[in-house]
Amino acid sequence: MDRYAVLGHPIKHSLSPEIHTAFARQTGQDLEYEAIELPVTSFETRVWQMFRDGFRGFNVTVPFKKDAHDFADELTERAKRARAVNTLVQLEDGRILGDTTDGAGLVFDLEEQLGWSLENSHILILGAGGAVRGILESLLESNPAQVVLANRTLAKAEDLTDDFPEIAPSSFDELEGHFDIIINGTSASLSGHLPPLPEGLITSETRCYDMMYGKGETAFNRWAREQGAKECADGLGMLVGQAAVSFEIWRGVQPEPESVLKELRG
Ligand code: ATR
Repeated sequence: MDRYAVLGHPIKHSLSPEIHTAFARQTGQDLEYEAIELPVTSFETRVWQMFRDGFRGFNVTVPFKKDAHDFADELTERAKRARAVNTLVQLEDGRILGDTTDGAGLVFDLEEQLGWSLENSHILILGAGGAVRGILESLLESNPAQVVLANRTLAKAEDLTDDFPEIAPSSFDELEGHFDIIINGTSASLSGHLPPLPEGLITSETRCYDMMYGKGETAFNRWAREQGAKECADGLGMLVGQAAVSFEIWRGVQPEPESVLKELRG
């Protein structure tokens, strides 16, 4: 049976095995998918060993996306620009291809699941770390009118314009104007914190998306709802969306993510 895994640290609570097992059932593919925790310092040797042991591909999550980028023999354009890889696959000739499917997963969730049109919209992104870098290419390909990127450390937002000159960097307190969609890509929700956002940023026309998900509402979504946001969503749909694109890269068949997402939401 073909073997796949998600690699991370920590990885115990990953939903990826459940998602990919559901995709395999749906599409009649004979495969096994597991979650494997790697020590933080031995990505390269462990992954080589697992490919030699017969694994066909991997998903890669925190903190290994940069290691996976450096490990791959060949990169897709979007992985190059993101400087991060979340999907590894061994090609026929034995070389390893690295891709990143996070942005495609986000756009799938926003446009197809939630029906939030990105074309001509004014988008604000919060955060300038690895998670945000990974989604910018796909967002920009959706032809928004404007993408403002605000970060606590302004210099990091400005640095991103080297690779993504289309974005407008900002600090939190300088933010002004109306945004149709605000995407929280900071890791603040992880610790139950909020980015320091100015009053009046959210109106009854603003849709808010937190790339994080967890049990119950995230801190950012709770705050946005209390501010009167039109709609709020968490990143579970993005997770299922990125998994679907990885699955298609590995198996050449397109799974149907909607029903799996419904199942996970219970
Ligand atoms: P990730 O891989 O999750 O993107 P990262 O690269 O460490 O992790 O980036 C974390 C992001 O969350 C950064 O944009 C960080 O802001 P700084 O660049 O100023 O550090 C942001 N972040 C984390 N905690 C935050 C908080 N409490 N308030 C605002 N921004 C926060």
